Amino acid sequence: MKISCGVDIIEIERIKESIQSIGDAFLERVYTKSEIEYCESKKMQKYQHYAARFAAKEAAFKALSEEVRDKYLISWKDIEVLNDCNGRPRLNILNKDIKIESIDISISHCKEYAVANVVVLKD
Ligand SMILES: CC(C)(COP(=O)(O)OP(=O)(O)OC[C@H]1O[C@@H](n2cnc3c(N)ncnc32)[C@H](O)[C@@H]1OP(=O)(O)O)[C@@H](O)C(=O)NCCC(=O)NCCS
Repeated sequence: MKISCGVDIIEIERIKESIQSIGDAFLERVYTKSEIEYCESKKMQKYQHYAARFAAKEAAFKALSEEVRDKYLISWKDIEVLNDCNGRPRLNILNKDIKIESIDISISHCKEYAVANVVVLKD
């Protein structure tokens, strides 16, 4: 077994600008339907949640390592963040070719930045 981690930090403003200038095309390329529903439900704070999910996907790409990335060409929507009933984020890996034992994530965001940390356990 090997533990691999990845972290990412992003400016909320960068994601806000992408959403406002590219619109639905950006949202549909990067986020799953469930992620969009979650972020849109947050109304005024929605860009923080979108940015956090963007950071989560980048952190997951890092944690899943070059080897897995080259083999299976992971796309943005292969990695989905869903929150449980307590608000805790969970990562769904939707690409069935990616074989891992376990994955966990932690997210934080404030007015200017969002950060995500992902830990993967794999063979
Ligand atoms: C969960 C909690 C700690 C989040 O902290 P926060 O400073 O308000 O918010 P942050 O910006 O740092 O983090 C927000 C993210 O926390 C994550 N989060 C929410 N509830 C969570 C939980 N129960 N467990 C783990 N992560 C959680 C989510 O991913 C959320 O982002 P998202 O909605 O975009 O997915 C806080 O809201 C809370 O419930 N506190 C209750 C009191 C408590 O238990 N304090 C700790 C005592 S040791």
